[in-house]
Amino acid sequence: MILVTGGAGFIGGNFVLDWLANPNADGILNLDKLTYAGNLTTLESLKDDPRHVFVHGDIGDKALVAQLLKDYQPRAIVNFAAESHVDRSIHGPADFVNTNIVGTFNLLECAREYWNGLDDAEKKAFRFHHVSTDEVYGSLSATDPAFTETNSYEPNSPYSASKAASDHLVRAWFHTYGFPVVTTNCSNNYGPYHFPEKLIPLVILNALNSKALPIYGDGQQIRDWLYVGDHCSAIREVLAHGKLGETYNIGGWNEKANIDVVKTICTILDELQPRPDNKSYSEQITFVKDRPGHDRRYAIDAGKVERELGWRPAETFDTGIRKTVQWYLDNPVWVEGVVSGSYRDWLQKQYS
Ligand code: NAD
Ligand code: DAU
Repeated sequence: MILVTGGAGFIGGNFVLDWLANPNADGILNLDKLTYAGNLTTLESLKDDPRHVFVHGDIGDKALVAQLLKDYQPRAIVNFAAESHVDRSIHGPADFVNTNIVGTFNLLECAREYWNGLDDAEKKAFRFHHVSTDEVYGSLSATDPAFTETNSYEPNSPYSASKAASDHLVRAWFHTYGFPVVTTNCSNNYGPYHFPEKLIPLVILNALNSKALPIYGDGQQIRDWLYVGDHCSAIREVLAHGKLGETYNIGGWNEKANIDVVKTICTILDELQPRPDNKSYSEQITFVKDRPGHDRRYAIDAGKVERELGWRPAETFDTGIRKTVQWYLDNPVWVEGVVSGSYRDWLQKQYS
């Protein structure tokens, strides 16, 4: 089997579901701490599937991780586990240092020890796939070329600094110990099961609940949007065929200003679920105080992964965002499960 960490979160959960949709796929050992962002409801359809083994635990727990590796003998590890929200990292960076840096360090060390004990063929086949972000490269101006894998690291938030640190550890474990790693740095994901603290699901749910649609600053910040299913297919490709020690940028070729993303969501909602007063949801748009240190533009050049591994995203932003809005309309039970007390506390802290 393979060990997936953070597989009850947004991308990890989608990855587990996609992976096990293939009847011939290896089983998954899913290690997740179930922080506020972890949600077992996402994995409900797997509850009777013996190929999915869920373990509630922390990647920073050395004894647990070592025991799991010994017991389950995975052929690969895909590390999604992280604190992932930039705004939360501004309010409280400690969890980001603990999980994203120290947790990744612990996982690397346990995995290296396990890998050292494998026979030659198993050692050769083993992979440690680290899932990272484009935010490690910092911010672009409107005219800068998109990030390539050779851009220098210039992280600007506690979140991106912690991810950058983890990427450096992964790189060093390859160069120093010959430990077989690959890293992917991807752009902003969106799609089903996305926790509604992030822009796209927040706007969909706020719109439907007659709340303000908060736009930070002037709304002209640009992100490169990647449909989560495309991210999952890229990870499968890199895990199977990526070159050891390499990093691959994964992006959607979909640069959009935040205000345009929000207006597009409003237009789709106007069509699929019109407001009772027949006015547009865009009337709920509200400009609010900017995020401190807000990066202006991210853009991914995903040329390397296409040239070397033949991967390209299947979704355009238009197709992906429509599917996403429809998914939130069709899944009120999942939504109800996540908008609990602690989520309301977060909204109060961030937007009041
Ligand atoms: P998420 O916040 O939705 O999920 C993170 C998951 O990790 C949760 O299930 C949480 O319970 C779990 N977790 C947190 N700390 C843990 C720990 N110490 N031990 C075990 N599990 C722990 O995040 P996501 O959006 O799914 O992101 C997954 C990965 O992809 C992260 O590494 C993130 O940095 C990276 N990434 C995300 C995006 C994006 O747009 N969401 C883009 C680029 C990269
Ligand atoms: O670029 C990849 C990164 O994308 C990942 O590494 C992170 O884990 C992920 O959270 C995401 O980070 P962002 O900060 O770009 O995503 P978020 O959805 O929080 O914000 C997207 C943009 O929208 C950003 O410019 C901030 C803005 N925004 C966000 C929120 C929550 C608003 O204008 N209003 C909001 O209420």
